[in-house]
Amino acid sequence: MNQIDWGSLGFAAYKTRTLVLCRYKDGQWSEITQTEDFSFVMNPFAGVLHYAVSCFEGLKAFTQKDGKAVLFRPEENASRLARTARYLGLPAPSSEMFVEMCLRCVNANREFLAPYGHDAAMYLRPLLMGTEPKLQLAPPSEAVFVVMCAPVGPYHGASMKSFSAVIPLNYDRAAPKGSGSYKVGANYAATFRPYQIAHSQGYNELLYLNSATHEFIDEFGSSNFFGIRANTYVTPLSDSVLPSITNKSLQQIALDLGMKVEKRPIPVEELAEFEEAGGCGTAVVITPMSHIDVKPVLEEAAVQSTYRFMPEGQVGPACTKLYKTITAIQKGEIEDIHSWCLKV
Ligand code: PLP
Ligand code: COI
Repeated sequence: MNQIDWGSLGFAAYKTRTLVLCRYKDGQWSEITQTEDFSFVMNPFAGVLHYAVSCFEGLKAFTQKDGKAVLFRPEENASRLARTARYLGLPAPSSEMFVEMCLRCVNANREFLAPYGHDAAMYLRPLLMGTEPKLQLAPPSEAVFVVMCAPVGPYHGASMKSFSAVIPLNYDRAAPKGSGSYKVGANYAATFRPYQIAHSQGYNELLYLNSATHEFIDEFGSSNFFGIRANTYVTPLSDSVLPSITNKSLQQIALDLGMKVEKRPIPVEELAEFEEAGGCGTAVVITPMSHIDVKPVLEEAAVQSTYRFMPEGQVGPACTKLYKTITAIQKGEIEDIHSWCLKV
């Protein structure tokens, strides 16, 4: 029955079997329900449709070497969702409810979970949105929290090859003191057009600078930034970047591997000092960069500067070690010394 070609999956929406959902109304959450009906009915005045009162999470389930399924650090996603929900004035599911719904989603969609031995995973997408019909600018008193999933392969189509990024100086990702550190849907919508332009020019990623001064690196559109210099893992300290669970894990892994870790503002010019650089996140895992261009105007040809890391097509030793370690923990190939994997 299972027709999935696990080796050729990309990162795409996929109709699986079951959605797990919960509704908030009259000050409380309903029972958790499961449905195979993927059509979603809501009032056209629902706040999410007008004012983008919506946020989401992303986490993965894996089949480990011993055949057991695990979720990677789901409580971290639960607390990040709660933080984003507070920002939007949405009711947040409790951590227990969040994890329970993710577990149910994996169990109810077991045939979409890649077996051990593939460069694939089950991506879980918890989504929280305000559904109250309302025109006033005020938090909704009705919401839906739904957990869906999709079998996925590498976000950029391949794992651990080298990629390229552009810093588009005529686009910012998030305002200072704005929504940058929250996983709100609207942050992503604002990147679609520049992504389309960057992709048409052959770049894989967009790298954004701090909006206030354009002096420091913030993050990629899809993931956090890290650079490697002198056995040190360096990642931006900024209140406009999403607190990435992958980045937090890689910082710990870097320490475990005997590297140093620095979390601090990174001036753009410091890109010239990095031996390796990349993006990290649940969907991308690690995106090693061969080079990053700075363009004053994304739509125009002029490139202000180019920063090169590893030679084109090559992935550096630090990126390789970090990738191998995090994926080995996720797949149960090495000991999970920090207890990051939750058995399903
Ligand atoms: N930064 C952005 C903008 C993201 O969308 C993501 C993906 O979730 C990340 C960073 C990485 O976060 P995490 O490692 O928790 O998936
Ligand atoms: C994730 O890594 O979970 C994300 O949400 C990134 C997004 C580009 C799909």
